[in-house]
Amino acid sequence: MRVSMHRIIDLRSDTVTKPTAAMRRAIAGADVGDDWYGDDPTVNLLQDRVAELTGKQAAAFLPTGTLCNQIAMHAYVRSGHFVVCEAQSHVCGMELHSAAALSGVAFRRVPARSHGQLTAEDLERSLEPDPYDVGVVDLVVVENTHQLGGGWPAPVASVAELAAVATARGVPLYLDGARLFNACAATGATVAEYATHSDALMLSLSKGMGAPIGSLLAGDADFIREVRRLKILFGAAWRQAGIMAAAGLVALDEGHERLISDHENARRLAAGVAEILPGSVDPSAVPTNIVFVDVTGTGRTPWQWAECLASVGVLVTAVPGRVRMLTHRDIGPADIDAVIAAWKRIESASVTEPEKTCPPHAGDCGGGGRRSRVAEGPISPSAAAATADRSSGISVSRSATPGGRGNYTSSGLAGGSLRAVGNTTDSASSDPRGHWRHRY
Ligand SMILES: Cc1ncc(COP(=O)(O)O)c(C=O)c1O
Repeated sequence: MRVSMHRIIDLRSDTVTKPTAAMRRAIAGADVGDDWYGDDPTVNLLQDRVAELTGKQAAAFLPTGTLCNQIAMHAYVRSGHFVVCEAQSHVCGMELHSAAALSGVAFRRVPARSHGQLTAEDLERSLEPDPYDVGVVDLVVVENTHQLGGGWPAPVASVAELAAVATARGVPLYLDGARLFNACAATGATVAEYATHSDALMLSLSKGMGAPIGSLLAGDADFIREVRRLKILFGAAWRQAGIMAAAGLVALDEGHERLISDHENARRLAAGVAEILPGSVDPSAVPTNIVFVDVTGTGRTPWQWAECLASVGVLVTAVPGRVRMLTHRDIGPADIDAVIAAWKRIESASVTEPEKTCPPHAGDCGGGGRRSRVAEGPISPSAAAATADRSSGISVSRSATPGGRGNYTSSGLAGGSLRAVGNTTDSASSDPRGHWRHRY
């Protein structure tokens, strides 16, 4: 099978989907008003729909999941107080700096034993009162599905157990439901069943659900009143946002049942890669749409794999030790076949023809830099360059390698040698941000 140079298969995230024809029609015909004043009818309709879906009193439409999380933490957590969350959660990883800058939040990070899943016992221990009354916990955050846990869905019963522990300690529980629809598709539970065990929650319509933009916070009326105040305070009071809410309504109408096929595609992808690199991924541990491949011992780093795959038109992300791929609505079974074929061709090129692993434009991805049989030609520069994935904090630069601090980085796609950034001594001298780095 040949990977076409004209078709980029983008598995970097489930946020990369393009709006459907129905969404584009709804956007064009949306009835709008000024959401600052609360009178955009389409935004209000979407908020009412989500309040109903979650069984909460009210909901607020916001541009991003990050802003939902940040506003929720600002509302619930006093500066200097703790949020308890699983150690690899989005809120205490990618959003750590935002929470520090916006709200002075501190995190008590609790490592899960497997797949990012906290147990009631773990939570109980983390909520033990401080004998000196110095460390105060204001909020528990549960991420479902858990992204770095491999898209693992917590069953409703587990969330209920966590909620019981939090309630007994008088601490509210907030659900980061960026991919809660995936959890519902995998477990068969409804959004409301999850929501009933949380004081407030966030739902994303731009991940997997296919909407171009937008997430919602849901909770009781007082909480959402405060959310609306903070939305204005943080500069997110958009105006005729109904054009985006209209696409969100279509996403809800189309439903989340379709996500099951993303999950099937992910498992098939995992099975295909497992055949090529035995032990690198366990397909039975791929419950939703996220596939992590452990590339340790393959002779290439995750960044080199990402670079080689990009050179044949397959975009993935790299994290320390692993390559991450997400399936979504713009990926079909034929794409999965093509991606498996790409892994196979790159893997066999490194075994049989190590000097021909990567094309010159792809930089040093483990081979000698000469044109490879696995490459059909350069990927489109716009696709290669358009690899800024805010949802996972991945920004592609010509020279990004692991920063060594467990943060996401990604691979340089357009050539140039790999160079450590973030913890090198020479990076400051070429820092394009100059003195802005030190403004806070
Ligand atoms: C679990 C989780 N929470 C929150 C977010 C942030 O969402 P957004 O990209 O809409 O800001 C993400 C992004 O992927 C996520 O994976």
